[in-house]
Amino acid sequence: MTTVPALPLNDGHTIPQLGTGIWQVPAEITAAVVASAIETGYRLIDGAFIYANEAGLGDGVRQAGLPRDDLFITTKVWNSDQGRDKARAAVARSLEAMQLDYFNLVLIHWPCPTKNLYVETWQALIEMQQEGLMRSIGVSNFNADHIARIVDATGVTPALNQIEVNPRMQNTEVRAANAERGIVTQAWTPLGEGKSFDETAILGACARTGKTPAQVVLRWHIQLGNAVIPRATKQQHQAENLDIFDFALNDDEMAAIAALDRNARCGPDPRHFEED
Ligand SMILES: NC(=O)c1ccc[n+]([C@@H]2O[C@H](COP(=O)([O-])OP(=O)(O)OC[C@H]3O[C@@H](n4cnc5c(N)ncnc54)[C@H](OP(=O)(O)O)[C@@H]3O)[C@@H](O)[C@H]2O)c1
Repeated sequence: MTTVPALPLNDGHTIPQLGTGIWQVPAEITAAVVASAIETGYRLIDGAFIYANEAGLGDGVRQAGLPRDDLFITTKVWNSDQGRDKARAAVARSLEAMQLDYFNLVLIHWPCPTKNLYVETWQALIEMQQEGLMRSIGVSNFNADHIARIVDATGVTPALNQIEVNPRMQNTEVRAANAERGIVTQAWTPLGEGKSFDETAILGACARTGKTPAQVVLRWHIQLGNAVIPRATKQQHQAENLDIFDFALNDDEMAAIAALDRNARCGPDPRHFEED
């Protein structure tokens, strides 16, 4: 079975560099998708309250039958749950939905700057981490200025920032700011809706290595040092995405993929996204 490298987090824990996400996985198949992912070799499942499939995530974990401590389970506090009391209730509700005792990682899903509650929400996560409800705490879709604000207010640096990264949206500035503070960057929509799969930079690397475009893109993330969480409902995709640790892209291939950056997002801009 493939061994996925572990990345150190700044709080003493580690995180598998590759996991799988379950956004848009229908609730009725989530348990089967999660169990299949774990049986295929994944140990990290990236969930969120807003994905409306947390019960399935928990059921899938139990179906797979591995000890809880062998797995890394993430959830996220949704925008409408920001603020101390709501964030506490949201984490309790997610634990209940998944029938779990603790999370490995809880993230603030979006900063929602206009709500102006992300500092208070971060303080709530710090409290809950101290109470043992989660091992690690982090953020998602935070820019450098959002991170500076929570660190200045609390003295606690997030372990991880989950942001959009793919060949057409490389998010170089936020990745660099994360690295400067010792924050792991975890890439969401890492395959970028396949929009770069027919680029020469990708196809050239496929031809040399015998790998698929998805494998080349995921390997690019791994070599950048990103943690990465591709979603795959098909078992064949799950297996393919795990099979990226037996080859390497060379410097020319890494440079050619770097040149695909268009600053073109698949998802919203965190400076403006406030949706409940
Ligand atoms: N924090 C945030 O705000 C945020 C935002 C978006 C996403 N996320 C997280 O990031 C995870 C991944 O992002 P995502 O779900 O948007 O997109 P993604 O992982 O980039 O792409 C998923 C799509 O790619 C297909 N796929 C997977 N492996 C493939 C392969 N080897 N070859 C061809 N196609 C393949 C999947 O198909 P099949 O399903 O048919 O296998 C699915 O349609 C999410 O599930 C979620 O956990 C977080």
